[in-house]
Amino acid sequence: MNSVSNPQSDNDDVTITVCPDGPLLVRGPVTLIDADGNPIKKERPTIALCRCRGTSIAPFCDGTHKKRRRRQSST
Ligand code: FES
Repeated sequence: MNSVSNPQSDNDDVTITVCPDGPLLVRGPVTLIDADGNPIKKERPTIALCRCRGTSIAPFCDGTHKKRRRRQSST
C-alpha cells in the first residue's frame, strides 16, 4: 500500500492510503463534498473511497472490488 501525508503537520494529519486494486483509505479531519456542494456525512474516522466504480454506495467502497478481482483472476 502507498500512503501520502503532510510531513509538516501533526495529529490533524490527513492520510490517504492507496489499496492495491481497492479503495483509497482516508484518515483524518476531512470534509467530503458531493457534486452539488453539500457535505457528505462521514460515519467513521476512516473512510474508504471507491476507485473501481463498482460500488453501490458511491463514493464509498462497499467491497465490490473484491468480487471483481476474483472474477478477473478466474478468467
Ligand atoms: S474500490 Fe471497493 S467497491 Fe470499488
